[in-house]
Amino acid sequence: MRRVGPFMIAVVVLAACVAVVYGVVGRRPTVTQPIAFNHTVHVGEASLACVDCHADAGTRRDAGLPKKQVCLDCHDPDSEAGKHPQKDKLFSFAKGDGEIPWIRVAVTRPDVFFSHRRHVAAAKIDCLGCHIGQPRLAAPPSTVRLVMPMTACIECHKRNAVSTDCLVCHR
Ligand code: HEC
Ligand code: HEC
Ligand code: HEC
Ligand code: HEC
Ligand code: HEC
Repeated sequence: MRRVGPFMIAVVVLAACVAVVYGVVGRRPTVTQPIAFNHTVHVGEASLACVDCHADAGTRRDAGLPKKQVCLDCHDPDSEAGKHPQKDKLFSFAKGDGEIPWIRVAVTRPDVFFSHRRHVAAAKIDCLGCHIGQPRLAAPPSTVRLVMPMTACIECHKRNAVSTDCLVCHR
């Protein structure tokens, strides 16, 4: 047992390192969204609120990505077709049956439990408290990225006297 113990610890540590490297650094393929959506224009010029498009943020775990009808409420193929290549992509999705296949890029680690409802509805934290750069994005990010490091979650929990027990987040 004495010789197996340290060996097993080394194996577990190595496995954990490999898992972390592959999980966080390794899994960063380039992402090309189906439409090069522009947050700056929609939050600025079009004066939309975040929840107009991410409608589930106050009620569910995931904030959700917009259905095409949300876009088509403002963009009309009859008057706008042929005026902008990205709008034309929207209009071709509009003709098809399916939804726009948006790809998720803002994530946390797979073993971490995070609920939007809990933070947005119960704790009343503004979206920009955690997604501060989003309104400045004129084009979608090209890689998957962690929304925030663990230290940022824990700092705010401490400030608000919320539990920082490992198992509250790592489930
Ligand atoms: C007109 C609709 C619209 C509005 C308004 C909008 N978004 Fe988005 N949002 C999108 C679409 C479409 C995507 C997916 C494409 C992309 O990443 O740009 C997205 C992506 C995101 C993502 C990355 C999600 C992922 O994993 O793909 C975050 C975070 C986000 N939005 C936050 C916000 C915040 C915060 C606001 C308010 C300041 C906001 N959005 C306003 C439509 C919108
Ligand atoms: C409340 C109305 C509104 C909604 C909803 C809306 N847009 Fe827009 N959109 C605008 C306005 C205003 C502009 C800026 C003027 C223009 O280019 O038509 C714009 C511009 C655009 C442009 C061209 C400008 C650029 O820089 O990319 C695209 C593409 C676009 N929107 C796609 C979308 C998509 C996709 C959705 C749904 C996720 C959406 N819009 C939802 C109002 C809206
Ligand atoms: C307390 C921090 C925090 C707040 C507040 C917050 N988010 Fe998030 N958001 C995150 C984290 C962490 C993730 C990654 C979650 C995951 O992978 O399950 C995320 C992911 C997302 C995504 C990716 C796709 C999805 O369906 O979840 C979108 C879109 C998003 N947030 C939008 C919003 C909007 C809009 C608001 C405000 C109404 C908001 N967030 C408020 C931390 C936050
Ligand atoms: C800006 C402050 C803030 C940030 C950042 C934040 N949280 Fe929270 N979190 C809170 C508050 C406040 C609550 C209590 C909400 C309530 O009243 O139900 C909470 C509650 C939770 C809960 C439920 C706790 C319980 O006891 O059941 C979990 C899980 C959680 N947060 C995970 C996360 C994770 C994971 C992150 C980082 C990705 C994060 N939080 C980032 C403020 C924050
Ligand atoms: C409030 C939520 C929260 C709590 C509490 C929490 N974590 Fe985390 N933890 C996260 C998030 C989010 C990540 C992913 C982001 C990152 O790696 O910084 C993470 C990542 C990690 C990682 C991977 C680090 C890396 O570099 O990839 C380890 C190990 C970890 N946590 C251990 C712990 C331990 C041990 C505790 C208890 C002492 C704990 N966590 C408490 C949210 C939390």
